[in-house]
Amino acid sequence: GLPARVRIHEVGARDGLQNEKAVVPAAVKAEFVRRLAGTGLTTIEATSFVHPKWVPQLADAEELFPAVADLPVDLPVLVPNERGLDRALALGARRVAVFASATESFAKANLNRTVDEALAMFAPVVARAKAAGVHVRGYLSMCFGDPWEGAVPVPQVVRVCRALLDMGCDELSLGDTIGVATPGHVDALLDALTGSGVPVGALGVHFHDTYGQALSNTLAALRHGVTTVDASAGGLGGCPYAKSATGNLATEDLVWMLRGLGIDTGVDLGRLVATSVWMAAHLGRPSPSRTVRALAGS
Ligand code: HMG
Ligand code: MG
Repeated sequence: GLPARVRIHEVGARDGLQNEKAVVPAAVKAEFVRRLAGTGLTTIEATSFVHPKWVPQLADAEELFPAVADLPVDLPVLVPNERGLDRALALGARRVAVFASATESFAKANLNRTVDEALAMFAPVVARAKAAGVHVRGYLSMCFGDPWEGAVPVPQVVRVCRALLDMGCDELSLGDTIGVATPGHVDALLDALTGSGVPVGALGVHFHDTYGQALSNTLAALRHGVTTVDASAGGLGGCPYAKSATGNLATEDLVWMLRGLGIDTGVDLGRLVATSVWMAAHLGRPSPSRTVRALAGS
């Protein structure tokens, strides 16, 4: 069966805009987040408190976060280390996300650490966040394929998932960072995770759409009982430290499929399309989302 309701974890303002060549002004980002909140989305990842030299596109986190903090939605932010957590807590963030890697190559490229060194970096972040009553998401990148290492063995992914949960993460997001997964691989990973005792309610999925498989993969995950799906408005996105990564699953494409399946998301599709059209005008190129293209102007 399929779930009655899905919670969309909107990542356009973070995963989307972190990959834009041009730096989007903080005021435009804030307006984007406000418009997203106006569509009925309830979880809107706002920004990252990472090293500004590593992701210059999000170096304005101190300006952006206070500009949206009044919104009546959850506004998770990425924090790689205690320095990032301090910055987020200082601004009153109530939800943070650490971001691990299933592969050594990407851990090095994205975090300048081995997989286990990165986990050691996250442990005090998670402990301190939990002690402060802050919700913690654990992202896990390269759960399916890695641009340097190829297909990623399922047990390798399960090990890092377990480590993140044992550390105290409230939820995990399984990342197909470069968009190479196919539904059978999704089945295999979710079977292995639930078979090893991971509650499906703690799992979210994060598909990039490089090979056009994101929706099929999402449907596979829904059939396993997953009810948290990451997506980015208009299909914005990628990852600056993973070559060949394109945008995330477009939120509009996701909402279109879920609406057709009778699954409630609380999102107003017309407003969402209008928001992505507005953002695309700022970025100077059309949205790659098929649903945005089909509905824009209709
Ligand atoms: P490092 O160079 O090893 O840093 O980078 P360090 O720990 O050696 O510290 C060096 C200096 O940076 C120090 O300053 C720190 O204070 C400073 P100094 O003492 O030399 O003057 N520093 C910071 N400053 C501000 N904020 C901070 C911070 N941390 C250290 N948070 C580090 C290690 C983790 C910091 C770096 O690698 C980094 O920032 N990486 C972030 C990369 C990133 O954001 N990638 C994109 C997000 S992940 C993603 O997109 C995938 C996802 O979507 C899921 C999927 O698709 O798979 C989530
Ligand atoms: Mg991503």
